[in-house]
Amino acid sequence: MAKTKTRYFCKNCGYESAKWVGNCPSCKEWNTFIEEVISKAGTTVPAWESNGSTHQSVPKTLAEIDPKEEPRIITVDKELNRVLGGGIIPGSLILIGGEPGIGKSTLMLQIALSLKDRKVLYVSGEESDHQIKMRADRLGMTSDSSYFLAETSTSIIFKHIETLKPDILILDSIQSLHSSSMESTPGSVGQVRQCAAEFMKYAKETSTPVFIIGHITKDGSIAGPKVLEHMVDTVLQFEGDLHHTYRIIRTSKNRFGSTAELGIYEMHSKGLREVSNPSEVLINNSHPLSGSAIGATVEGNRPLLIEVQALVSPASYGTPQRSSTGFDNKRLNMLLAVLEKRGGFKLSLNDVFLNMAGGIKVEDPAIDLAVCVSIISSMEDMELPDKSCFAAEVGLGCELRSINKLENRVMEAEKLGFNSIYVSKQGKAPKTTKIKVKSFEKLVDVFSDIFG
Ligand code: TYD
Ligand code: MG
Repeated sequence: MAKTKTRYFCKNCGYESAKWVGNCPSCKEWNTFIEEVISKAGTTVPAWESNGSTHQSVPKTLAEIDPKEEPRIITVDKELNRVLGGGIIPGSLILIGGEPGIGKSTLMLQIALSLKDRKVLYVSGEESDHQIKMRADRLGMTSDSSYFLAETSTSIIFKHIETLKPDILILDSIQSLHSSSMESTPGSVGQVRQCAAEFMKYAKETSTPVFIIGHITKDGSIAGPKVLEHMVDTVLQFEGDLHHTYRIIRTSKNRFGSTAELGIYEMHSKGLREVSNPSEVLINNSHPLSGSAIGATVEGNRPLLIEVQALVSPASYGTPQRSSTGFDNKRLNMLLAVLEKRGGFKLSLNDVFLNMAGGIKVEDPAIDLAVCVSIISSMEDMELPDKSCFAAEVGLGCELRSINKLENRVMEAEKLGFNSIYVSKQGKAPKTTKIKVKSFEKLVDVFSDIFG
């Protein structure tokens, strides 16, 4: 009887080892190795190779390489084009990661159905073709050039690909596929890696773009196979709060474009809708409330005005609570310490809650000033001046520090009808027509200007 071959894989990064080890030599995590059956002896022909691929590569000099630059495939979805760096590159392998239920299948189905002049093959290992049809009906879309296949075996998928020859391939999801060259179960590290490798080879040899949908585990890594992130050309993270309607797509790796880009969608009863003017939906333009400040942030090259809400209330227990949604808790604690020590505000006696409206996560340090101002506004129960916004980083010495792309932020605020923007004196204030740019050196100067 053929001997079963097993290997050990790191659940975190996909590192492969012949023996079990406690500490992963690659990602240094502890206790992440699991045993997986890889093959029975003598059955290790990858599906793609067994399908008669005769492609052979030879070493070439740069001059010998054909400089043909294939044009990007521009989709009707502007947000997707943006995060991909201007459209889909032929032959690229794109991973779309996200928590279950966030809308990955919906997004890819919409893309498939909207690319009417391309032959798209959508392979679903999770839903039957009836379910896909129901979803398409719900989206109210149809297309004659999209084909659907409910299948999980890579060798069968490749057989269909050979006859259909699609222009774009979508795999939903990589965790549900399995390759017959491996004995382990679908979703295991070995299987995910093997399947992805087969499709990577296919993408590169045939110049077909391949989208891979991958579920994310609780700790935020794409299920076990973080290894996928190394293999693919582009990693898109689909995130958002399931209770909010906004969904954000971020690029965390892109071999063909910037990683700073971001796309915003809104989930409706009829699928995902692009949000082309996010600032307008993320700020509440009704009457001002104490504790609410507008921060002018930038995501990628895109300015984004976000409402920051703070609630400061007397602490009922000995240790006051500090909690934030959409903002780093450590940074919140730092800003509170600055306000306490340099500004003389007695925040240690209060609970502080902070929220970025719309379920958006903000990492841009320029939001600091809006955070500090909203906290003090709530603590003093005083509203901020109407139609004013904030953009500056706050340093440990209470100083306002300059930030990048100030001009973009100011222009966006002006476009949205703001009267004034508070910035740091350090940066060069751009010339504007209507909006008043107020520059200050210290955080406390901003407070005396606002609260008198
Ligand atoms: P789905 O694309 O199935 O998520 P994923 O593939 O990431 O697991 O999205 C499912 C969620 O989206 C589900 O909770 C219902 C919601 N939804 C809508 O609100 N409107 C729609 O038109 C569709 C198709 C889904
Ligand atoms: Mg899905």
